[in-house]
Amino acid sequence: MNNSIAVRPYSRQDRASIRRISCDTADKGEPIDKIFHDREIVADLLTRYYTDYEPHSTWVAESGGNVVGYLNGCLNTRRYYKIMLFRVLPRTLVKAFLRGVFYKKESWIFSMALIKVWRRGGFDRKIPLYKYPAHLHINIDSDFRGKNIGRILMERFVELAGKKGLNGIHLTVKENNANGRAFFEKMGFAKLDRYLIPQMDHNSYIIIYGKEIARVG
Ligand SMILES: CC(C)(COP(=O)(O)OP(=O)(O)OC[C@H]1O[C@@H](n2cnc3c(N)ncnc32)[C@H](O)[C@@H]1OP(=O)(O)O)[C@@H](O)C(=O)NCCC(=O)NCCS
Repeated sequence: MNNSIAVRPYSRQDRASIRRISCDTADKGEPIDKIFHDREIVADLLTRYYTDYEPHSTWVAESGGNVVGYLNGCLNTRRYYKIMLFRVLPRTLVKAFLRGVFYKKESWIFSMALIKVWRRGGFDRKIPLYKYPAHLHINIDSDFRGKNIGRILMERFVELAGKKGLNGIHLTVKENNANGRAFFEKMGFAKLDRYLIPQMDHNSYIIIYGKEIARVG
């Protein structure tokens, strides 16, 4: 690995960098801005649970004093669902309202797409949480990809999950994110299922991947 890159546990001062990278890489590794304009809301939805409610399961990669990538992990996905539903989403909805997000045409197009997917039976995620209770998100700045950072971040989280005695990890990735899928398959994840998600201009699918892990200790 490149000597100038270090992987270390998350600390509070990394929060802004994680939020920035989440928006810069959210659309299959590309910036989110052409899909949704309000980065504050996107960062809340994508990262707030991990940085604010389970910070000990996140690692960052640093180069030259800057955070260039991260892995947001969650050891208990049922807890994640509860905290998202009762804490993160309500606060984010209020914030979005106060920031005028609902006055934007893109928000209404997105909401209509959500309703359409729901009516077509989308959002039916069949993730066997007894088998894959943990989940993760991994995002690296474009200039720092292909340098083994993703592998090292993944190893850290798999090790933690193994030490906690968990059976497996799942994750989701857009079906058309060929790079992300190739990486996860290389890391030993296998396809479990797929479900429909709305986009601003078309609908696409999310793939659910799972990996069983060996318990440590
Ligand atoms: C996907 C991502 C996390 C991979 O991290 P990375 O640091 O670039 O990957 P690494 O350098 O650690 O690669 C680890 C292994 O995966 C393989 N790999 C990584 N990207 C690959 C790709 N696009 N195609 C094929 N193999 C790939 C590498 O060849 C390497 O295998 P090897 O050691 O046998 O050569 C990173 O590119 C990224 O952040 N992309 C944008 C955000 C994203 O799509 N996140 C995932 C979906 S939410």
